[in-house]
Amino acid sequence: MKALVSYLSYSGNTEEVAELIGAHLVAEGVYVDLCDIESDRPRNLAAYDYIFIGTFTWAQGQTPVEVKDFVYDIGYKPDNVAVFGTGDTQFGGENMFCAAVDKLSKFYNSKWPSLKIEQSPRGSQEEKVEQWLEGVLHDAN
Ligand SMILES: Cc1cc2nc3c(=O)[nH]c(=O)nc-3n(C[C@H](O)[C@H](O)[C@H](O)COP(=O)(O)O)c2cc1C
Repeated sequence: MKALVSYLSYSGNTEEVAELIGAHLVAEGVYVDLCDIESDRPRNLAAYDYIFIGTFTWAQGQTPVEVKDFVYDIGYKPDNVAVFGTGDTQFGGENMFCAAVDKLSKFYNSKWPSLKIEQSPRGSQEEKVEQWLEGVLHDAN
């Protein structure tokens, strides 16, 4: 099994989630490529069994432009995309919380529910990340 964990992160929260996902996947015996899309682009997406895309949400529910560029560069809609992200309910409340995650998940018609983390995943939310990942790896999809 091979997984791509791609993400965009300005202040580190989404990167922390990506690293937790990566570490957990490695512990499960999955080969992982971690990719910060701000500085890198993965090659040959078809080689991956799972493609994780992580984003924060910006400016009233917006998807960061780097993530939009990445999606454009991918150029097609793989059917094995799982979406995760971080946000902050202080910016516009529940309606705008992690709205970019919802948009991406809908765009890729993801088979799995998306993961939304409030700010840093460290502490009590780490378990949420692990449970979500177990669902992605082991559900019937
Ligand atoms: C100007 C600004 C606007 C933001 N707007 C939203 C928003 O609309 N929805 C949301 O859930 N979070 C919003 N946030 C919070 C960030 O998405 C959150 O801090 C996120 O964890 C940052 O990710 P990063 O640490 O990976 O860069 C905003 C943050 C800033 C600074």
